[in-house]
Amino acid sequence: MAVITILGAGAMGSALATPLTQAGWETRLWGTWLDDHLLDACEAGKPHPRTNVPLAPGTKLYRSDQLDEALEGADAVFIAVASVGVPKITEMALGAISKASVLLCTSKGFWTDPDGRVQLLPDAIRTIAAEKGALLPPIVGVGGPCKANEVAEGKPTATIYGSLDEATAIRMAREISTDVYRIEPTSDEVGVEVCAPMKNVYAIALGLADGLEEGTGFPHHNLKSAIFAQAVREMSIVSTELGARPETAFGLAGVGDLEVTGLSGRNKVYGLRIGRGEGAKDALAAMEAAEQTVEGVPAAGLALTLVQQREGLLERLPLLKAVTAIIAGAEDPAALATAAALPARV
Ligand SMILES: NC(=O)c1ccc[n+]([C@@H]2O[C@H](COP(=O)([O-])OP(=O)(O)OC[C@H]3O[C@@H](n4cnc5c(N)ncnc54)[C@H](O)[C@@H]3O)[C@@H](O)[C@H]2O)c1
Repeated sequence: MAVITILGAGAMGSALATPLTQAGWETRLWGTWLDDHLLDACEAGKPHPRTNVPLAPGTKLYRSDQLDEALEGADAVFIAVASVGVPKITEMALGAISKASVLLCTSKGFWTDPDGRVQLLPDAIRTIAAEKGALLPPIVGVGGPCKANEVAEGKPTATIYGSLDEATAIRMAREISTDVYRIEPTSDEVGVEVCAPMKNVYAIALGLADGLEEGTGFPHHNLKSAIFAQAVREMSIVSTELGARPETAFGLAGVGDLEVTGLSGRNKVYGLRIGRGEGAKDALAAMEAAEQTVEGVPAAGLALTLVQQREGLLERLPLLKAVTAIIAGAEDPAALATAAALPARV
């Protein structure tokens, strides 16, 4: 039985154990130093606190001080920590990653290198490995509409695995797919990796439209749809500028993930609070006080820097500009989002 080690026992790391065990992998779930309480619950036979779903039977659990045991003989390594933790976890696991045949990553975010340049996460991993002189197996970026609780529960899910090494993406699609967890393999790693964090940014604007409905008592569905279309257009522009195929933004990685992220989740809730009339900074502070990290907020700033690294690109992205201004506390968020989403008058 092939061995896969999932690094990070949060919502998504634990959820992935469901398809992986069903697909016949020996599945090891390693919790970071932040995950002890999550593993305590799983070991006590309780549902995982983040997904409210029991861990897949047969999953082997490892504590933060058991990283070497968790990675011993792993054929595949699956990074599932918050994007901020990806560099450190990569460094910690680099020896075993080098020996594995594939490194998968479901974390969604950007990374700033020591020179201040913003990179996609697989490039960050490559940079870190190169600095340490370590060889890497092919990297597979995992995207698409995958709410962790539904994956954990075994509900139908379509996901996209992108790798510059297409044969590895196809192999992983064959070896991890189940009846209900289906994988679209693609060589468009860049498209998958651009859409993953950017849809979190745009979900804030979708939430804002919902908040306007709550605040005014009148639906803003037309505006929400216009925001959705503009968000997809902008994800396609950015990803193609970085070398991706345009259709990736219009498939599972872009449209699919934006839809599910705009339905629920912290980014949408943050936007909703702003749309209802709360100040952007107060809304964020309240959510952080409740330990609710809004990934779209740092992603927006990093996306802005990434885009500004390419001359003339930002001018084509009015919605990204609007969302970053809204997060910074601009005075009339609704007017900004509206102006960015509606076509210009002709
Ligand atoms: N929850 C979902 O539905 C879902 C779906 C697809 C992808 N993702 C992505 O998966 C990643 C994890 O999300 P999640 O929902 O499991 O979050 P979570 O909060 O439930 O778990 C976060 C994980 O990251 C680790 N972590 C947090 N900060 C860290 C740090 N500074 N250093 C090292 N490790 C750290 C935690 O220990 C934990 O294992 C995110 O990038 C997210 O965008 C989540």
